[in-house]
Amino acid sequence: MKVAVYPGSFDPITNGHLDIIKRGAKVFDKIVVAVLINIDKKGLFTPDERVKLIEKAVCDMDNVEVVSFNGLLIDLLKERNSRVVLKGLRAVSDFEYEMQMALMNNKLDSEIETVFMMTAAENSFLSSSSVKQVAKFGGSIEGLVPDCIIEDVINQVKR
Ligand code: PNS
Repeated sequence: MKVAVYPGSFDPITNGHLDIIKRGAKVFDKIVVAVLINIDKKGLFTPDERVKLIEKAVCDMDNVEVVSFNGLLIDLLKERNSRVVLKGLRAVSDFEYEMQMALMNNKLDSEIETVFMMTAAENSFLSSSSVKQVAKFGGSIEGLVPDCIIEDVINQVKR
């Protein structure tokens, strides 16, 4: 069984992430969506809250599991018997950052391959940070995040 791990901060999950999960689930037998810690980012949601939001968004998908992991991505891959990291690429601006991570993971474990999917054009401007900004200042986040989590995001930025 070909298992791919789709890692990220997912703070919160956006429609761009969801699109990659849906397309990934058609290519691989199973997708493990993994909420990991990015030490450069301060979170709005706790890792457990992010997992719950993603679970809501993927509830109709049989071959998708959502986990959180406090450690190195390569260790999660070992735990899950996977060699494949799935990532979305939005624009050239993502490339350097993603390449650095892919090469680092491959340096840490040479068995690991990172597979990139191009983000759909309509989501290419979308990021969790911009969603938070829009929600914080009262703009509409409809169409930016899965419908079932809109209220959660609005309530959280108001706290
Ligand atoms: O959505 P993000 O913030 O771009 O995702 C980055 C993330 C969480 C995948 C990355 O920071 C990560 O893999 N963190 C876990 C620690 C790790 O394995 N670091 C080594 C790769 S640089």
